[in-house]
Amino acid sequence: MSSLEPAEQICRKLTESLTKGTFARLVLSAPVASGDTPQKILGRFIMLKGVPHLSLTLRQTTRDVTKNLPIAEGATWLREQLARQFHSALLCTTARDWQFISNAAGEARLIDHQPSAKKTPAREHDQRHAGILDDSARDWLQGLDVLDVAGKVRVSMADKHRQINHYLEILSHLAKECGWMGAPRAEAGKQKAEDGEQKSAFGPPPSAHRLPPLVLADMGCGKGYLTFGTWHLFRRVLKQPVQVIGVETRADLVATTNKLAQQIGADGLAFVAGTIDSAQLPRVDALIALHACNTATDDALRRGIELGAKLIVMAPCCHKELRPQLGKPAPFAPVLRHGVMEERMAEWVTDGLRALFLEWAGYRTKIMEFVAGEHTPKNLMIAAVRERDGFTDPAARQRIEELKTFFGVEKHALDPLLAAANVKTV
Ligand SMILES: C[S@@+](CC[C@H](N)C(=O)[O-])C[C@H]1O[C@@H](n2cnc3c(N)ncnc32)[C@H](O)[C@@H]1O
Repeated sequence: MSSLEPAEQICRKLTESLTKGTFARLVLSAPVASGDTPQKILGRFIMLKGVPHLSLTLRQTTRDVTKNLPIAEGATWLREQLARQFHSALLCTTARDWQFISNAAGEARLIDHQPSAKKTPAREHDQRHAGILDDSARDWLQGLDVLDVAGKVRVSMADKHRQINHYLEILSHLAKECGWMGAPRAEAGKQKAEDGEQKSAFGPPPSAHRLPPLVLADMGCGKGYLTFGTWHLFRRVLKQPVQVIGVETRADLVATTNKLAQQIGADGLAFVAGTIDSAQLPRVDALIALHACNTATDDALRRGIELGAKLIVMAPCCHKELRPQLGKPAPFAPVLRHGVMEERMAEWVTDGLRALFLEWAGYRTKIMEFVAGEHTPKNLMIAAVRERDGFTDPAARQRIEELKTFFGVEKHALDPLLAAANVKTV
């Protein structure tokens, strides 16, 4: 092992990885002080005007601050952080991961592990990160009070801003998977690009309106943060013809969001009063339901299938249906007598079954973390892309039955889907 101090070693490893192109990410945690100082710092590699930088997100209790350092300054900056601000640092490179740990007495050590990242993150992503909620989103973000009159994120809305941004990043990746940023649409817009229109970093240039618009429905859209965001991503960033429909039971919210859509001239964005399970909707390309309570998420899932959605995106909210039914199979029983563990298991089974139902309906499904878990344990997103005919694979159906039987679940809101004949598509 090197005779250098652990802090010095990790600083050198940082410089080496940044210059050799093996750097994947840096995370500083275990802050020396609490309060409104950064509780965590996340470091990424980005190119700014062609110059490599270490981009740092300083995560404070109420907001994030971003700071970009030329890579030559990275080691000096890290040395200061480890001397005064943080007890722990994780440097991930494609060669090794390096974990620095220190204690209040100043004792420190450096441990190395197998690399957790096999390749460095795509640089394209860095541009996208900066781009989605750029100045062109100012009108609706101000209209929704996320930004103040000067265009700054309100302190009380920092989490919401972060959530919208993160959701749009995920949605842009999913749109790519669905082929909505791919060749045919790009082809259609090509002529205009050749005619001199500005090209978007995200996809095709302002595209020909002869394409049929994508139809996206946001169920239980509330104040419309994510509905405006969805419209913004497709219409203003991806330059796609799009029809976005927000569905919401509260007529007052529908009136407010429609007024804002009109004020900013959001063509193709409309809000309708109605319920998730019965609102009149056309066939849709994507159905989104974020934070719809309890089985309203299941209603949305079922409607997405019935309305022919290629993409279904859900972030489930409260999970009440299964908990009273949940059995305590061995060897889980002694653990499930703890209420919090039982609640989490009920959520796990509920969302797990939702994913299995989607697979039975012909979707490729993934479950991922939506917002960082520090604010709420309810932070999952289920995203499903339809890839084959649904309700034909007996093994997919059997997986649902087996999980239900194992946990003693007798009734699930999606059970009608078990008989494919119950699914009425438009
Ligand atoms: C927790 S908010 C989420 C709003 C938005 N999707 C978001 O994530 O920011 C849930 C919204 O769904 C609406 N809602 C609840 N049940 C509904 C239903 N069955 N049909 C339509 N809207 C519903 C509520 O009025 C509320 O505005």
